[in-house]
Amino acid sequence: MKIQIINGPNLNLLGKREKDIYGDISFDDYFKILNNKFNKVNLSYFQSNVEGEIINKIQEVGFDFDGIILNAAAYTHTSVGISDAVRGVQSPVIEVHISNTKSREEFRKKSYISPHVKGIIQGFGLKSYDLAILSFIKES
Ligand code: DQA
Repeated sequence: MKIQIINGPNLNLLGKREKDIYGDISFDDYFKILNNKFNKVNLSYFQSNVEGEIINKIQEVGFDFDGIILNAAAYTHTSVGISDAVRGVQSPVIEVHISNTKSREEFRKKSYISPHVKGIIQGFGLKSYDLAILSFIKES
C-alpha cells in the first residue's frame, strides 16, 4: 500500500513553531516514528511552502497511490487550486490537521478542501496522521 503524506506551508517549522499548538517534534522526526509503526505501509512524505508545488505533487501521485494524507495548512482556508487538484485525482484524500481548526479563529473554519475529501481528521496533534494511515489500512 502506497500512501503519500503532503504537508503545506510552515509545517517545515514543526517543533519550532507555536509549540503549544503544534507540538515540539519536527515532522522529519515524526515521519521516522510513523515509518517504524507502520512498517508494512509504503509511506512517502513531501512538504512545500509553495501552492503550485503542492498541486504538482497531488497530480503526480493522485493516479497511482492508494491514498493521500493532505495537511494543506494555511492553504486549506484559501486555495481553490489545491481544492481542484483534490477533485481531479483518483486517489482518495484524507484531510488532516494537527489542531482542531473549528475551535480556533473564524477564518480557519472554512476549508476549500473538505467538500472533496474522503474524510477529515483533526485536533489529535500529530496522532491525526496515525489515525489517517490507520483508516486506509483498515479498508485494505
Ligand atoms: C493546520 C491548521 C491551519 O489553520 C494552519 O494554518 C496550519 C496548520 C493544522 O495542522 O492544525 O498551518 O493545518
